[in-house]
Amino acid sequence: MDGFEQPATAKPKKPMPTDELHAKSVWKVSLEPSGLQFDVSANQSVLIAALQARIRMPSSCRNGTCRTCLCMLKQGKIRYQIDWPGLTREEKAEGYMLPCVATPESDLVLDVPDASPLK
Ligand code: FES
Repeated sequence: MDGFEQPATAKPKKPMPTDELHAKSVWKVSLEPSGLQFDVSANQSVLIAALQARIRMPSSCRNGTCRTCLCMLKQGKIRYQIDWPGLTREEKAEGYMLPCVATPESDLVLDVPDASPLK
């Protein structure tokens, strides 16, 4: 066994029905260490959703080039709205992301020490 095989007793995961997959279009984002939370639609950037929820996250260009919004994705899955977000392959592998051009594909937990409620 190479460590990636499932034990003989494990049942294969049941695929999510297509209807259910498409029905899930809003995801929850939790920010650490503040504990702030907000919802993001599947077609919205994480940064824009935060602003709509009156949460300030560091940002500048909002198009994936300046890296002001760079933060750590601690849990969850994202996809990018642009082909070449300003991250190296190594940064992506380490878990860094750019929320201004990232859209969720699951609930997310992000490390954003400078996040704060907008007044
Ligand atoms: S705000 Fe510039 S890369 Fe995200």
